[in-house]
Amino acid sequence: MKGTTPAGAATEREAAEWVRDMFGRVARRYDLANHLLSFNLDRYWRTRVVARVRGILRAPETRALDLCCGTGDLLLALEAGPGGAVWGSDFCHPMLTAAARKISRRGFRSRVFEADALDNPVRDASFDLITVAFGFRNLANYRKGLDEMRRVLRPGGLVAILEFSQPPNPLFAVLYNFYSRRLLPAIGGALSGSRDAYAYLPESVRKFPSPDELASQMQQAGFRSVMYERITGGIVCLHLGRV
Ligand SMILES: C[S@@+](CC[C@H](N)C(=O)[O-])C[C@H]1O[C@@H](n2cnc3c(N)ncnc32)[C@H](O)[C@@H]1O
Repeated sequence: MKGTTPAGAATEREAAEWVRDMFGRVARRYDLANHLLSFNLDRYWRTRVVARVRGILRAPETRALDLCCGTGDLLLALEAGPGGAVWGSDFCHPMLTAAARKISRRGFRSRVFEADALDNPVRDASFDLITVAFGFRNLANYRKGLDEMRRVLRPGGLVAILEFSQPPNPLFAVLYNFYSRRLLPAIGGALSGSRDAYAYLPESVRKFPSPDELASQMQQAGFRSVMYERITGGIVCLHLGRV
């Protein structure tokens, strides 16, 4: 398998179903768990994405799509930025329902639709910007995910992938791994009622390609000007690439 490999999933279809069910189970408490477990850093990480894509967001007529938008926090941060309304998609209905509720509560204009990021019902070359925050790692096939993004982007379009990563500093990595493998499943499990979801998280990060490997996969998929920046000591990494 060339993407995420949750325990017990033997095929890409089973992996995708496992991921969708898991997010369906945690959707109600997802935001609370996210903010608490990340000490609110998740908000800061999303603002970094907005800052990096500000140029293209600001351009008139830009069409932006936030893939794997979940409960919509990046979507809201993007709309609050310079560009205005964006589209969001996700394949987990309860996550999208939460996103739609937040958009309407804030009086925003962004729209969400239910779709698999590996088989997007969107025309070729129809968006200028694609963002994906903490969703790419969960795809059952990373190359297929990159190919879909490339297909959907217009020439000159930009992709921004924000994902968890392994900190390069060995001492920080020991501390971080203790937190993510020991404390996070227990606290996340208690908050969300789904311990396996928060045991899956550090396991999927451990198996996820390194920043260099992901950059090289992006280049192989045809993205150019690929670059990445580590954020918060490398706990997360933001990859950018152009079509
Ligand atoms: C960790 S959440 C991130 C949500 C949001 N982007 C954020 O920053 O909080 C990952 C999301 O990816 C979605 N996802 C995973 N695989 C997907 C796929 N193949 N197609 C669409 N959505 C997917 C899940 O349903 C979930 O809502």
